[in-house]
Amino acid sequence: MFTNLCCKNKIYKNLYNGHWIESNSNKLIEIFSPVDGSLLGKVQAMTTEEVDMTIKNTKEAFISWKETSLSDRTEILYKAADLLDENSEEMATLMMMEISKDKKSCVSEVVRTADLLRFTADTAKTMQGEALVGDSFPGGSKSKMSFVSREPLGTVLAIAPFNYPVNLSASKIGPAIVAGNTVVLKPPTQGSLSALYLAEIFNKAGLPAGVLNTVTGRGSEIGDYLATHPGINFINFTGSTEVGQHIASLSKMIPLLLELGGKDAAIVLEDANLETAATNIINGAYSYSGQRCTAVKRIITFDSVADKLIPLLKEKIENLKVGNPDEEGVVITPLIDNKSADYVEGLIKDAKDSGATLITGGTRKGNTIYPTLFDNVTTDMRLAWEEPFGPVLPLIRVSSIDEAIEIANKSEYGLQSSVFTQDIDKAFYIAKKLEVGTVQVNNKTERGPDHFPFLGVKSSGMGTQGIKYSIESMSRPKAIVLNLK
Ligand code: NAP
Ligand code: G3H
Repeated sequence: MFTNLCCKNKIYKNLYNGHWIESNSNKLIEIFSPVDGSLLGKVQAMTTEEVDMTIKNTKEAFISWKETSLSDRTEILYKAADLLDENSEEMATLMMMEISKDKKSCVSEVVRTADLLRFTADTAKTMQGEALVGDSFPGGSKSKMSFVSREPLGTVLAIAPFNYPVNLSASKIGPAIVAGNTVVLKPPTQGSLSALYLAEIFNKAGLPAGVLNTVTGRGSEIGDYLATHPGINFINFTGSTEVGQHIASLSKMIPLLLELGGKDAAIVLEDANLETAATNIINGAYSYSGQRCTAVKRIITFDSVADKLIPLLKEKIENLKVGNPDEEGVVITPLIDNKSADYVEGLIKDAKDSGATLITGGTRKGNTIYPTLFDNVTTDMRLAWEEPFGPVLPLIRVSSIDEAIEIANKSEYGLQSSVFTQDIDKAFYIAKKLEVGTVQVNNKTERGPDHFPFLGVKSSGMGTQGIKYSIESMSRPKAIVLNLK
């Protein structure tokens, strides 16, 4: 698969008009593995002229793509899904080295993406518009009928983060193209090799030239130019709140879909099954070393629960395997880069210095942060509010359900929350009051299944993802009203 997009000296090209082309910029970005420091490849920092050319090409492709039948569009998605399955092993190995995610999770990311594309194609076929008759509105008439179909928006700029370079690129590209849009993909720089591989999958699946083009280069250098380009009709961004808010501040009358950071709380009540709660909290907080937007990022509970829950958590944490991502059963792997590890270490130091009780972990070797749990974290500590994006979990003690809700809602973020209880009334009382996109009852916070609505409120995002919702977000209704004589 790789032969087209990568050439001599490991220089990866960009997909443009159905071909892999080299940039004229001569500026290369080296992609090193966070696992062992090896050079995996080099991507090109594209020039602004090349960005212009790329976007112009997607606009030309849009003219015929929007007229292509839904049946033909969905066939390409099914084919891409099959190619993902066929190449899952190779893609997962590359991804594992590029973003330091354990091999098993990399394989499941690719397979999940194949399923997502199939489901997207299936769903698109059920979204064929509607016909409305005027007489249901007071004073309306049967002779007025509205035929409502969905129209694509034009060129979608898809910007993905490092932690799911394949899935969070495909979950934008699939719904965008099935709705008839063309796409410019700006992959995360660390993760771009995996995302470019995905682009080749779409290319090999028969996506017509120019329907998907890629732009590599550092977001800090080329991002603003892309996000404010007059040829972009929609921006679908996943990444940090800082960058998402920056993009929102720049965009002018361009619809945005933003999936941003989180500080998901697990609220554990006195009647909860503590074994279930502990298992879910551990999986939620520590898988992929906590580098998930939906990771459990704080526990909020009562003294009586904490005293029983902490020993369960401690034992499970100390059994988590720490190592390299190719090791069987490993959970904790080196973080994506040195800067991220420094940041997490800073949060640990602040919690220690501020008097939190370190239950386990708290150490660092290279960029690996050992899974860490703090008890007695209080609201004056950074760890109570900041998103570590690393394997560090604070436990905050409260004395009432309403105090738990108040602290949960005080966060600037509002992605998800979990509530662990056997009492459905209490679960609903809390869930209704939490200011988040989704509340999970007796489960860890998580995105999937991918056809569920997925959204963040407050600083966690804007707009709704999830297969049907993503298609709706990246298309608009078009009404043709028939007035019968
Ligand atoms: P990030 O630093 O914000 O980067 C995300 C993407 O934005 C990358 O492709 C980056 O390119 C690009 N970018 C940077 N500056 C830009 C600019 N000025 N204009 C346009 N694009 C720009 O985030 P990350 O470190 O990759 O991912 C971690 C964060 O993403 C966490 O906060 C996590 O919670 C969040 N996240 C949220 C969700 C969700 O669904 N809510 C899902 C996954 C991750 P470069 O790589 O070249 O810098
Ligand atoms: O990092 C953000 C992802 O959308 C989270 O997906 O909950 O399936 O790990 P996940």
